[in-house]
Amino acid sequence: MSENFAAALHRRATAAMQAGRADADAQGGQVKVAQYTSEAVLQQELGLLRQHPQPVAAGSSLASPGAWLSLTHFGIPLLLVRQQGGQVDAFLNVCRHRGARVVPEGSGGGDGTAARAFVCPYHAWTYRPDGSLRGVPESFGFPCLKQEESGLRKLAAAERAGIVWVVLDPSRSDADPGRSLGALMDNLESLAGLGSPVAFAPRSYEVAANWKLLVDGSFEAYHFKVAHRQTIAHMFVDNMQVVDEFGLHRRLYLIKTKFSQDKPEAAGFDPRRYGNLTYFFFPNTTILVQPDHAQLSSLEPLGAGRTRVHELTLIPQAPASDKATAHWEANVALYRRTLAEDYELAESIQAGLASGANDALTFGTFEYSAPRFHAQLQQQVAAMQAAG
Ligand code: FES
Ligand SMILES: [Fe+2]
Repeated sequence: MSENFAAALHRRATAAMQAGRADADAQGGQVKVAQYTSEAVLQQELGLLRQHPQPVAAGSSLASPGAWLSLTHFGIPLLLVRQQGGQVDAFLNVCRHRGARVVPEGSGGGDGTAARAFVCPYHAWTYRPDGSLRGVPESFGFPCLKQEESGLRKLAAAERAGIVWVVLDPSRSDADPGRSLGALMDNLESLAGLGSPVAFAPRSYEVAANWKLLVDGSFEAYHFKVAHRQTIAHMFVDNMQVVDEFGLHRRLYLIKTKFSQDKPEAAGFDPRRYGNLTYFFFPNTTILVQPDHAQLSSLEPLGAGRTRVHELTLIPQAPASDKATAHWEANVALYRRTLAEDYELAESIQAGLASGANDALTFGTFEYSAPRFHAQLQQQVAAMQAAG
């Protein structure tokens, strides 16, 4: 698998360098400004995002059976529990009695002791680690209660590439997140150190821009030599990116100048030495693969003009020395500096959208992934609404 993938990237990168452009037959396009400013559009998109797997936590934060993690994602209280069989189950952290949050935010368990029960702080309904309802104080007051149907609502979940992915919409509890992440996830996991990496430096912050402006920015290399001239532009060939689509997901290969300097052979070609690989999982997650680690960014829309970005650095194993920690911290800092350049521009675009200067934003041929993404997103939202 990985050898074919590397050889194909070598062939396509070589052809792009010879032609002086990648994906020469691609079409540009336009996206209406209202797509970035409308709260009604955003509400529809949020419904769709809740139906697609969201990366909510690192598997390494639930180290062993019995470990649990209570968090809030997309405003939804979640409880993750690693089961005795090793898999991570995800539940809505909402009591089936009168809806209180069962477990306060935090983490615990997994220290070899028997997994605890979860006791609701309001009237002490008690749930087992598998989510089932274990006990109800003074249960004579609930003569019609079907205990076996009153466990915590379970959500579809899967652990892939060291990340726990959850479908947040409880009506989609029969979804298969591993299947929807598809062949692109298989390819990502086949890369050295990314099969079951460890999370480093989880962080989140807010950007005053529509979430799709941040997606647009991750889909083209046209801006590199201008917007990233102070940080990373010197490492890359100008505006030279090869894109592969995997259904609604895509992988973008941004070619480094080292590729034209070294002229590596096809045999044994290591794509990670000669370019950045961006794995985009539709609709809102990117994993940037670098030679010895990866950076995950996932976008949580807070409003039409506001986004919370969740980031995680994925490394092969926990740092065993101060030197190793410093190495990863330096990588996090460079990633943060580079993305700050992108996000500042996204905020400047958002601030000007309502001015009336543009009815639509215009994307060139080499920026084609962005208008394609918008068309796919709008199709998916329409299909979701048609399905009711
Ligand atoms: S709301 Fe949880 S026990 Fe009453
Ligand atoms: Fe950028």
